[in-house]
Amino acid sequence: MGFTIAIDGPAAAGKGTLSKAIAAHFDFAHLDTGLLYRAVGAKTLLGVQPLDAALKLVAADMEDTDLRTPEVAQAASKVAIIPEVRAALVDFQRAFGARAGGAVLDGRDIGTVICPEAKVKLYVTASAQVRAERRYLELSAKGDVSTREQVLADVKARDARDMERVEAPLKPADDAVLIDTSDLSIADAIAQAIGVIEAHTGE
Ligand code: DC
Repeated sequence: MGFTIAIDGPAAAGKGTLSKAIAAHFDFAHLDTGLLYRAVGAKTLLGVQPLDAALKLVAADMEDTDLRTPEVAQAASKVAIIPEVRAALVDFQRAFGARAGGAVLDGRDIGTVICPEAKVKLYVTASAQVRAERRYLELSAKGDVSTREQVLADVKARDARDMERVEAPLKPADDAVLIDTSDLSIADAIAQAIGVIEAHTGE
């Protein structure tokens, strides 16, 4: 089995940016597992049953350009509560994690459920206010008209749903290293993460 890096944390904590930078630095493959749930959530908005959507998911569904909207994010968080939907997505994620060349997976349950044997587990977080502000700036740059208040409420609703669900709730694995990006620049967060991973590479 290759070197697996599990990165979990709440919405807009910086997981995506960190994961891409880490994957590029170590030349590992990267899977944004949130995209799987977003692709299923997007289908439910079109009337497809969640389990049906999960069972029939294909790679092209993840390339849909509309998966980054607030509506799809909420729909993703809702389908992610359903145990059968989660179960349908496990094998693909585990196979990705076991890639010989090394893999970085980011999501909510990577270190706890999908890859509990990962060599390095990071739990990336930031205050709800900081995360909402980042998401707000990202959305307004894309022309979205949501207010700061709406974005903060959305972030908090998604946190609650992701952390309080029964199946695979968002929480740090016992052996995860915590990185709080609230007061870190992107460069500092990346440097910190790479430092943690390098400390494990000789093991
Ligand atoms: O990381 P993201 O914001 O794209 O994730 C969207 C939703 O998908 C998130 O609110 C909960 C769900 N999700 C999950 O339950 N487990 C994962 N490993 C990744 C995402």
